[in-house]
Amino acid sequence: MTIRLEQPKDFREVENLTREAFWNVYRPGCTEHYVLNQYRNNPDFIPELDFVMEEDGRIIGNVMFSKAEITLDNGGSFPAWTFGPISIHPDYKRKGYGLKLLKHALAKAREMGVGVLCMEGNINFYKHAGFDLASKLGIHYHDMPKDDEVPFFLAQELKPGYLKGIEGTYCPPKGYSVADENPEAFKAYDSTFPKKVKAYNEGQLPPFVQIAKNLKEQGKSLEL
Ligand SMILES: CC(C)(COP(=O)(O)OP(=O)(O)OC[C@H]1O[C@@H](n2cnc3c(N)ncnc32)[C@H](O)[C@@H]1OP(=O)(O)O)[C@@H](O)C(=O)NCCC(=O)NCCS
Repeated sequence: MTIRLEQPKDFREVENLTREAFWNVYRPGCTEHYVLNQYRNNPDFIPELDFVMEEDGRIIGNVMFSKAEITLDNGGSFPAWTFGPISIHPDYKRKGYGLKLLKHALAKAREMGVGVLCMEGNINFYKHAGFDLASKLGIHYHDMPKDDEVPFFLAQELKPGYLKGIEGTYCPPKGYSVADENPEAFKAYDSTFPKKVKAYNEGQLPPFVQIAKNLKEQGKSLEL
């Protein structure tokens, strides 16, 4: 297994890998491959932290990082960073590859002077790489009441004490909503990949599952 920086010749393979990894995981289908496709031209993208993992002569993993910011309670903003999508090909999931890739990228990010990472994810995976609830560091998630526990909003100081005295709110950079903002462009892009069947499953974000259940009860189905 090797980890190296992504090169332009890898772009399509990595986007396809991202699509395979995320397909039907959080919603019917997925949009993360388009986020990656668009982000490489975004000034917030960090090429030095855009890693691919190879095994058995193919790319089986990828992670990318972005600059981000925390809006301070007392006005102004404070530099933060985020990462994702992170993908491991379905054939290689739950074999330790994801954690190896993430830890490799975190070590490089630390070397580069990244102070804190904020992100949305499953604590059961990210806790193995040093992440904890962001609320413990005084950082809140946008769109959520400040006193609410937000179990998917995670953070890690890579520079100990970086957030000392900081209280504020994090909102994911706009680059992550590119598919929602340009649905037609996304649809055209996605249609260039092999056809895959969209499906609902219980592990997906609650709104999708609930909408699907309600419609099923009415004898209807949601058009995907
Ligand atoms: C999430 C992902 C990157 C993890 O990579 P991975 O190689 O499958 O994970 P690892 O084998 O390194 O996991 C290490 C440990 O983290 C935990 N873990 C990993 N994935 C988990 C999940 N989906 N739910 C809960 N715990 C998880 C487990 O404790 C695991 O150890 P175990 O298998 O011995 O129990 C990969 O599964 C993936 O690409 N998933 C689809 C896309 C995605 O969800 N990306 C993250 C978005 S935030």
